[in-house]
Amino acid sequence: MGFRKDFLWGAATAAYQIEGAYQEDGRGMSIWDSLTKEAGHVAWGENGNTACEHYHLYKEDVALMKEMGLTCYRFSVSWPRILPEGDGRVNEKGVRFYQELVELLLDAGIEPVVTLYHWDLPYTLYEKGGWKNPESVEWFAGYAKAVAEMFQGKVRYYITFNEPQVFVGLGYRLGIHAPFEKNEPSVISAITRNVLLAHGRAVAVLRSAGPKDIKIGMAPSSGCVIPKSETEEDIEEARRMSFEANKGGIGGGISWWMDAVFLGEFSKENKEAFGENVPQLTEEEWALVTQPLDFFGFNCYAGGGNLVPPNPYAYDRYSYQGSPKTATGWNITPDVLYWAARFYYERYKKPILVTENGLAAYDLVSLDGCVHDPNRIDYTHRYLRGLKRAAEEGIPVIGYIHWSFMDNFEWASGYDMRFGLVYVDYRTQQRILKDSAYWYRNVILSNGENL
Ligand code: BGC
Repeated sequence: MGFRKDFLWGAATAAYQIEGAYQEDGRGMSIWDSLTKEAGHVAWGENGNTACEHYHLYKEDVALMKEMGLTCYRFSVSWPRILPEGDGRVNEKGVRFYQELVELLLDAGIEPVVTLYHWDLPYTLYEKGGWKNPESVEWFAGYAKAVAEMFQGKVRYYITFNEPQVFVGLGYRLGIHAPFEKNEPSVISAITRNVLLAHGRAVAVLRSAGPKDIKIGMAPSSGCVIPKSETEEDIEEARRMSFEANKGGIGGGISWWMDAVFLGEFSKENKEAFGENVPQLTEEEWALVTQPLDFFGFNCYAGGGNLVPPNPYAYDRYSYQGSPKTATGWNITPDVLYWAARFYYERYKKPILVTENGLAAYDLVSLDGCVHDPNRIDYTHRYLRGLKRAAEEGIPVIGYIHWSFMDNFEWASGYDMRFGLVYVDYRTQQRILKDSAYWYRNVILSNGENL
């Protein structure tokens, strides 16, 4: 027994990271367009103005997905492309782009998995306080409604928020991502409340719009802690550490967000750690936040440690002199997909969907015109074996979505680090399938039997 027959084999992207065409066809500005103009936020002063020009090259890109044999494609909708002012007026040209993309995917037999929010908040809403403003709950509900109307029941899989820990933590607490703010814990508490309620409103809107077999989830960032050995004590220690309150600060841990959404509470550890900054919700609000979801999605790149930001002067639980790392400096810890699937299934009791996993490298085109990326193949192979073990032990794993379908704008790090299965030459917009794309195609063809 390996992966189920209808296993979703995918790859993912996000609108701001690939679309480009930032001023075309009536698109509004997002916080990433407007606020990255100020120097010092992104490596080399880069931005997503052109990115991979996917807005123009989407037909070619879907053809490549088909060639790779993907059975699902996760992408996000750009909120300001369909609602240029954030709410109210709908931009028909933007709507048409996403409708055509979904038609093409369905024709190619590729299941669309749509993320509503992958960090590109409309700038007009930022000017009104963005996620700090309680009105953001209704703005998001209106946006979810526009997306549901746009897709007319043709999309079955939705993800409300990508990595709330990251866009709140890096965006509003540490000032590394847009809107580049450093706020007090009380502000992060208010944002948490707004994002949780916005999630709930969106779930209600999407479910009532259908289709009947709609599947809704979230995509938190979640590298759990890997046990040091498989003794009961070590497993229990890792389980406890995986869900403890984030030592790096409020809003960072998986339990902060997922206990609220799936269990309807903030844990004792989070209450002890963050005291009066734990949001207070009424019974009615909890009912909105905890509407049943259909899967537990998570983005996972490496094992978590003591949940504080990595310290370049000290080894963590997984590193040692010369230990394997990706170009982002993240540890390579293949067993994490096994333990994450196991721990999250135990705690949240929903089918597991890996919504992101992959490796950053400084890939380049070789003399033979190909892009050889043995490290990405080896990384993915090892991680998938971990996931396969989980499936074999009876954990309902419904899919694996690789990050990323193609090289793209890596937020504050710009374009140097490449995560794609497809190489992008940003001067010519030429795409080249990397060796890993061909390898992944064989994995998909054998439904993971060859791992
Ligand atoms: C995000 C992606 C990002 C990737 C690699 C995740 O945090 O969802 O947008 O590019 O990881 O850093």
